[in-house]
Amino acid sequence: MKVLLTGGAGYIGSHTAIEFIKAGYDIVVADNFSNSKPEAVRRTRELAGVDFPFYNIDVCDKEKLDALFSAEGIDAVVHFAGLKAVGESCQKPLEYYKNNIDSTLVLLEVMKAHGTKRIIFSSSATVYGAPDTVPIKETAPVGRCTNPYGRTKYFIEQILGDAAVADGDMSVVLLRYFNPVGAHESGRIGEDPAGIPNNLMPFISQTAVGKRKELSVFGNDYPTPDGTGVRDYIHVVDLARGHVAAMGYAAAHTGVEVFNLGTGVGYSVLDMVKAFIKSTDVNVPYKFAPRRSGDIAECYADATKAKEILGWQAEKTLEDMCRDTWKWQSANPNGYN
Ligand code: NAD
Ligand code: UD1
Repeated sequence: MKVLLTGGAGYIGSHTAIEFIKAGYDIVVADNFSNSKPEAVRRTRELAGVDFPFYNIDVCDKEKLDALFSAEGIDAVVHFAGLKAVGESCQKPLEYYKNNIDSTLVLLEVMKAHGTKRIIFSSSATVYGAPDTVPIKETAPVGRCTNPYGRTKYFIEQILGDAAVADGDMSVVLLRYFNPVGAHESGRIGEDPAGIPNNLMPFISQTAVGKRKELSVFGNDYPTPDGTGVRDYIHVVDLARGHVAAMGYAAAHTGVEVFNLGTGVGYSVLDMVKAFIKSTDVNVPYKFAPRRSGDIAECYADATKAKEILGWQAEKTLEDMCRDTWKWQSANPNGYN
């Protein structure tokens, strides 16, 4: 079975490419390098031991995507391609709507023209907005997003659902990721954020490596055990394996299904800092700072549905997440540059 990974040069896509190859799938990767580097593809091929086909194309370019489908014969798609920076999406909402939604529409049109019926989509816990209760089940209300990025995820979930209603042979799996962190255990591929990282783990590791002076802990007055925000951090390799499990499901079912991909356990910002220091023996200076606008106190998954239906659950520990992040960061202080 041949699987197209759109955005497969990126952080999650590159790790998922390796897991699909390990599971015996043929893969094709398409990426326009808007937020990734050719070096990531080179290293992914090296780690996987397979020279999989790569297309440097924009998924919004229908002609080029159509040519890829004609040349490769694609059985299923994992759609990672998209812009993902929350803050930037508030500055440039139209670019986010255009890129994320157009790429999905073009992909669906080309899939339809070629009779490709299976698609797995990279959604996000952000579609739940501020949850009424934690842990969050897949049945919780969605759409109360606080930024354009989150709304693109919510809209795309609706679009994919409508496409599956119109074509009873389609299989759509929506994967709502919680907070992906960590890196491949080799330290050869990992997260390479452009500029100053917004997310916690890359900020911690860049502080540890000396690129940032200190971490600002956004808020220590939340109604959480230590006052700092609680999230469900999941190792990117566990997350990648969740896609392989979801593809098995998609191959055997039609219709739309949604799964949380998280560990089901919440850790605070201070838990993460302490775990990082303990696992790596490297100090992370930090100070308390005001809350970041748009942040919520607690967000973690009820991960039982994926376990029961996909037979998948996260296996890696917080220590694995910290150690592998550090392995990548310390060996590649400037990312892929
Ligand atoms: P990433 O930016 O590393 O990867 C996305 C890739 O898509 C990049 O390589 C980028 O160059 C490519 N891309 C973007 N638009 C494209 C287009 N029009 N045509 C071709 N390629 C295009 O991000 P990631 O962290 O690997 O995230 C992958 C997906 O998962 C994204 O859709 C993201 O929104 C979603 N997601 C990520 C997180 C997270 O914390 N990393 C959380 C929830 C959901
Ligand atoms: C953010 C996005 C979310 C996106 C997710 C994964 C916001 C409001 N939400 O989620 O839409 O799906 O990333 O990409 O941006 N923190 C600090 N100091 C820092 C950075 C973060 O204290 O320098 C804290 C935050 O306040 C939060 C926790 O660390 O409590 C995790 O933050 P982050 O990694 O940005 O993820 P989310 O806020 O969960």
